[in-house]
Amino acid sequence: MAQQRTLFAKDIEIAPEYDPEAAVTLYLGDRLELLRSIPDQEASLVVTSPPYNLGKDYEEEVGVGEYIEAQAETIEEAVRICADDGSVCWEVGNYVENGEIKPLDILLYPIFMSYGLKLRNRIVWHFGHGLHCSNRFSGRYEVVLWFTKSDDHYFDLDAVRVPQKYPGKKHYKGPKAGQLSGHPKGKNPGDVWVMPNVKANHREKTIHPCQFPVALIERLVLALTEPGDLVVDPYVGVGTTAAAAILHGRRAAGADTMPEYLEIAGQRVRQAAAGTLEYRPLDKPIYDPSLPNGGHR
Ligand SMILES: C[S@@+](CC[C@H](N)C(=O)[O-])C[C@H]1O[C@@H](n2cnc3c(N)ncnc32)[C@H](O)[C@@H]1O
Repeated sequence: MAQQRTLFAKDIEIAPEYDPEAAVTLYLGDRLELLRSIPDQEASLVVTSPPYNLGKDYEEEVGVGEYIEAQAETIEEAVRICADDGSVCWEVGNYVENGEIKPLDILLYPIFMSYGLKLRNRIVWHFGHGLHCSNRFSGRYEVVLWFTKSDDHYFDLDAVRVPQKYPGKKHYKGPKAGQLSGHPKGKNPGDVWVMPNVKANHREKTIHPCQFPVALIERLVLALTEPGDLVVDPYVGVGTTAAAAILHGRRAAGADTMPEYLEIAGQRVRQAAAGTLEYRPLDKPIYDPSLPNGGHR
C-alpha cells in the first residue's frame, strides 16, 4: 500500500475553524456549525460514526425519534458539502432503547434515499470482542453504509486490493490455461471487513470509549478519495478519520463537542503527519490461534 506522507509538513498547522487552505480543521463545537461553514461540494468523502445514544459521557439519552431528527440535520449538511463524484459513509451499530435494539442503518436509510443518494455497499464490520449479552446473542458487528451522490463516483479498487488466497493459482484448462486465475494486483476486499475493535489492549486505544480503528477509515480514504481531497467527519472524536486522511495525504475537517477528545485528535493528526502515529496496519492479519505464531507474518 502506498504511504503518501509527503503533502504535509511535519509541524502541521491545525485550524480551529474551517479554512480551505488548512490541511486539518478541528472544530470545537456542534457538528452543524462546522458543516455549515464548509462550501457546497467541497468534500470528497464525509465519513463518521455518530453518537449511538448509549448513555456515554458525551451524549444525552433521547428518544429514537429525536435522535433520528438530529441525524437527519447532520445528513442534510453532509450531502450538501459532498462533491458530485463523492461519497458519504455512515458507520453505525444499534440504538438501544429499554433493552431493545433498533438497527440504525435501517432507520437512517430512508433519510439518505430522500436525498437521492445511491447505496453502493452495506459493509459489515465484524469484530471479536464486546459486551457479553445474557438475553440475546452478543453483538459482534457494525455496519458502514456507503452512499454516493451520483453514478459517476470515484472508486479506486486497486488502492485497496488484498492478497489473493492462492496468489500464483492458474487456470489449468480451457482457453486461459496457464494464465493467472486471480487479479495479479490482488482481490477486491469484499463487503465483510474483519478488523479488531478498539478495546483496552488495542494499540490505538485512547480515553475515548468508542473510537473506530484507523484501518477501517484508511480503506475508505484510499478507495474513495485522491491525495489533496477533503475528508470530513462531523463527529470526529479523537480524530481517527483526520489521522487516516493525513496518513495518506488527504485534507481533513472534523468537529467534536468534547475538548479533551479534540486535544487527542490534534496529537494524533500531528503524529500521522510525522509518521509516528501508533496504529494497527490495514494489512495486519487477525490473530488465529490455530496457526503458527497466531498467523502473524
Ligand atoms: C461514536 S463517537 C466518534 C468516535 C470517532 N469515530 C473516533 O474514532 O474517535 C461520537 C462522537 O460524537 C461527539 N459528539 C456528540 N454530540 C456532538 C455534536 N453535537 N457535535 C459534534 N460532536 C458531537 C462525541 O463527543 C463523540 O466523540
